[in-house]
This record gives sequence, structure tokens and C-alpha cells, in this order.
Amino acid sequence: MADEVQEIKDKLDIVEFINSYAPLKKTGRNFRALCPFHSERTPSFFVSPERQTWHCFGCNRGGDIYSFLMEKEGLTFGEALRMLASRAGVELKTRFSPQRQERKERLLAATHLASEFYHYLLAKHKLGEKTRQYLSNRSIERTSIEEFKLGYAPSSWEAAGKFLLSRGFKVDELLETGLIIEKSDIRHPTSDIRHWYDRFRGRLMFPVFDVTNRVVGFSARTLENEEPKYINSPESAIFKKGHLLYGLNLAKDEIRAKDTTILVEGNLDVISAHQAGFQNVVAPLGTGVTEAHAKLSKRFAQKISICFDNDEAGTQATLRAIPIAQSQGLEISVLQIKNAQDADELIRQDPQLFEKALSETRTAFFYLLSLGKGKFNATDTALSKKKIAALVLPFIARTPKEIEKDALVKKLAEELGISERAVWSDLEKTSGLENQRISELEEGENKKAETPKKSREILLAEHLLQLILASEKTVWVDEKFKTILSNIQKDFFVSDKLTEIWQSVEKFFNQKREINVKEIGKNLSPSSQAVYDLLILRPAAKIYEKEQEFLNDLQLAADELKKLFLRKKLQELSLAIREAEKKEAREEVDRLKKEFKETLGEMPK
Ligand code: GTP
Ligand code: MN
Repeated sequence: MADEVQEIKDKLDIVEFINSYAPLKKTGRNFRALCPFHSERTPSFFVSPERQTWHCFGCNRGGDIYSFLMEKEGLTFGEALRMLASRAGVELKTRFSPQRQERKERLLAATHLASEFYHYLLAKHKLGEKTRQYLSNRSIERTSIEEFKLGYAPSSWEAAGKFLLSRGFKVDELLETGLIIEKSDIRHPTSDIRHWYDRFRGRLMFPVFDVTNRVVGFSARTLENEEPKYINSPESAIFKKGHLLYGLNLAKDEIRAKDTTILVEGNLDVISAHQAGFQNVVAPLGTGVTEAHAKLSKRFAQKISICFDNDEAGTQATLRAIPIAQSQGLEISVLQIKNAQDADELIRQDPQLFEKALSETRTAFFYLLSLGKGKFNATDTALSKKKIAALVLPFIARTPKEIEKDALVKKLAEELGISERAVWSDLEKTSGLENQRISELEEGENKKAETPKKSREILLAEHLLQLILASEKTVWVDEKFKTILSNIQKDFFVSDKLTEIWQSVEKFFNQKREINVKEIGKNLSPSSQAVYDLLILRPAAKIYEKEQEFLNDLQLAADELKKLFLRKKLQELSLAIREAEKKEAREEVDRLKKEFKETLGEMPK
């Protein structure tokens, strides 16, 4: 299937294809157009013929020919694949193979039967007594146990597995669903007997349903304060955590009716909310909000209201979710929990309190603003105004509609008591380079708030790589170009992805003496490719007419990056020197001082 996907891509030209939707104009090595996905006056939509990718720096959508068609026509991947296959004249063989379909059905039958088994034990069996008591202590009613089909996995190493085997399932099928785990250390090389044990033991079981009401996996909570608190089914052909929302099967009608999805943090928050009559509530399965989550909820509603726990982790998760939801064009608001830890606790205190919080839901803009005001206290100093603005501006920058953007700028200026002109100018800086988006990809899962210093290093490194990747044939033979490149060290790049990109550039240039954007990109890991594509598609800050001018800028960028690197090294050395002096380690001090001097000598002017 991967072969066919690639074969179709190879046969079609993305430039020609997109050109029929949005007339493209050549600019350097890329093409640009007014974005077909959001309204804009100056084109920020780019297509790279070499990488066969596209990206809009205005609304931050991007991808390949498939994602373009999916986005444009509202298709699923399978539908886009079939359309493009016929256009390219490729016959699809493997995708909808009956064996694969059949296998999937078998796995789903196994998880379905498992859910009945667990549910029976909780609802009817003596073994479920303690868990029934636990749920009743948490005010979870009988009807909720039925609706959510909660269950109990007994404290046994093989009860579930044996039951499912007795109903005709095979060991390898159960292994694939993750209901059982193989004891690989015991498996005898010449024997066919496989040893396994139940994954879920002595836990409260939350079956996870997909939108079409099929049990695709489980989320299992300990009742004994064990670690980890939750165990989930492993990723498989039927269970993809980042694509599932807990409770969506029960919530989707109400989500549609209210045109709003309420997103809470935990499974128990979902159940509590539904029980109290708030039925448009769902939760991610302990992961951060993904693009797939946002897309999924957009199928049912335009609006999403984030209602995470009342703690720093909840705030951080909210801040990460906002740009993701925004990238899918959702209208975002934040429902803040006060005087309780989470939605579940608030509702248990009194459902009216949740109703009240619901009525006080704020738009993402006002949420960010008040978060900023709370964090940086007074709005009277210039610095705190700046910090508050920094929290809100990326949000405004990503707002696709110009009219809305305009209104938000006005509002922010008013709230902070500064001129609109100042806000616009800061906003331009924010969106100009689109640092935000690339830095986000850069930071990836990294949850620490980025320090401004790191961000500067990354921006510079990106700028340097962007220049190199945009370089023309004529400079590749220039001695100065070669010298600049040979003086760049991999340690200058503070992020793994940028380091990987640099190493790929360096290796290719050393072998072939050219910068071939397509070839250099081929060997990168998928996450680095995403960063790489943005580097290539991001419009250059400047068009160079003279080669020397380009080389000077390149030299400058390389020097700046080197300076940052050396300065950091000097700081580390001086710390080490102080330490060594404390310990009166003479030789060590001398050695470090020598290194300090040498490092200082390397500093570009
Ligand atoms: P209570 O603490 O009983 O109220 O449960 P909760 O469902 O509200 O859990 P919590 O707010 O602690 O966590 C939110 C969600 O994160 C849970 O519903 C799980 O989906 C997930 N989660 C929590 N702890 C773990 C864990 O240890 N491992 C995994 N994989 N997921 C977890
Ligand atoms: Mn909870």
C-alpha cells in the first residue's frame, strides 16, 4: 500500500494539480498563490516542486498532494487515494484486501467479546463487588455503568485470555489486540506452545468505542493506587489513541445539537458530566490534543470548549491544544474550573456549579489575555504588557479571518492601554517569520516552556539552513561558499532535528558538491522532514541579485550562530573554572583556562 501511495505521487505533479485550484506563480524555486483555504490579500501559500509539498504560512495548513485534496474536498485518505489513483492510472490492489478486512473484523469481535466479559463481571458477578462499591462511592450510577459499559478485569493472569480462546479466538489475534501479552522469555525455540498472560488484571475497565460504536480497545484504571494509574490498550490496527475521543459515541448527537464539543481531561470527568446531563463531553485518552482529535470533533461541531484540570498541567495542556484546534479552524473557548480539581469534582459538588462555569466560558482570546494578566500581574509596566502580548499575539497571528484579526488587535490594544499601531507592528514580527509554527514542531513533545535564548538559537539555525537550501548553482563552486560550510559544526544546532538536517546537507555537499533539496530530504526521519519542508517553503526574507551579497549574509548567519555556540561554551567553562578553583584543583584550572582562551580566540569578529 505504501508503494501505491508513492507510485501515485510520483506519477502526478503537485504543481499542476494544485494549479487547477489556485493559480500558481513561480517565485525562486517554489510556487506561490493566494491560499485556497483562507481568505487573504497577500499570498502566503507555497508549493515546492522538488519536495512535492505545500504549506500556507497564513493558516498553517500543509502537506502533500493527498492532504491537499482531502482538505479541499473534505475527503478521507481512502477517498483521496482512490481519486488520485484513477487520475494517475494506477490500479489499487492491496488497500481493501478482503484478508485485511477480515482480520480487522476478527480483532474487533475479540475486543467486543472482551468488553462483554468484563462488563458481566462488574454488573453481575461476585468478583465485581469491590469495584461496584468503588463506583458507588464516586457517585457513578448504575445507568452510567450500563451506558459506558464499564467492566471489571479480575485479578487473574489468564481469565480473560482463556475465556476468549474458548470462544474460538487465536493467540496471535488476542496478542494483536493487546488483551494478552506474550512471555517471550519463556518461549522455547523448538516448541509451538506460546506463553502469555492477561494485560488487564484487577482493574476497572473503560471500553473505548469508535464513532460507529465498536469497541476498539480499553482504558483500565487501578483501584489500589497502583502505578501506573491507567493502562491502555497498545496501538494496533484497530486502536489508535491519538484518533479517539473517549465518550464520543455517546456524545456526538449532543455535540451536533449544541454545535460544541466540550473536552475534559479524564474518563471519569466524561462519565460524571454525562450523568449530570452534560452530554456533549468527551476526553482524549491521556494524550495531548492531536490534529486528528480536532478534525474528529470538527466533523460534529464548529466549536470546541476546553475544560482541563485546574492545575498547571491542565493550563499547559490547554495552551498546547489551542493552536492545534485553531489549525483545524475550530472556534475555541476555555471553560475554567474553579474551587475544584476537575470537572468530575465540580459536578459532584453540584451540577449547577458546572452549569455556571459553562455560562462563564471565555473565548480563547480572553482566556489567554486573562491568563497573561494573572501571570504577569500589573499591566502598568511596559515589560508586563509585552509579556502579556506575547501570550496572545501568536493566537491573533494564526486567526485566519482578517476582520476578526482586526477586531482582536483593537481589543488587545485597548486592554493593555497601548496603541493599535504598536500591536500591529508586534504582530507582524510574530507572523512575519512564522517562527511560532516551526518552533512548535521543533520543540515537539518537549513540554518545557521555551526560553527566549533557545528560541533565538533555533531561529538563527533555521535561517542559516534556509539560506543554504536556497542557494543557487553558481555559488556552489565558489570557494567562499565551501569555506563557510566547512566551518559550520554540528554542535551549533541546538535541536536534534536541525542537527539531522545539517548533517544531511553537509554529507551531500561533501560528496556531490551541490545542494539538491530533493535528495537531501530523502534520508531524513519523518519528524525532521516536517521541519525541513517548512524551511524550504518559507519565503526568503530577501531576494539576492548579487552572489557576493548572498555570501556575505550567509557568512554573517554562520558567524552569529557560531558566536552563540561559543558564548554558551565560555559560560560553561567559566562555571567549571570556578568549581575547580573551589576544589583547588590546580591542573584542572590551568587546563580549563587554556581552553577558555582558545575558545575566546575562535570567536568570529
Ligand atoms: P480519577 O483520578 O479517578 O479522577 O481519574 P481520571 O480519569 O480523572 O484521571 P486523571 O485526571 O488523573 O487523568 C486523565 C486521563 O489521563 C485519564 O482518564 C487517562 O486516560 C489518562 N491517564 C491518567 N494516568 C495515566 C497513566 O498512568 N497512564 C496512562 N497511559 N494514561 C493515564
Ligand atoms: Mn479525575
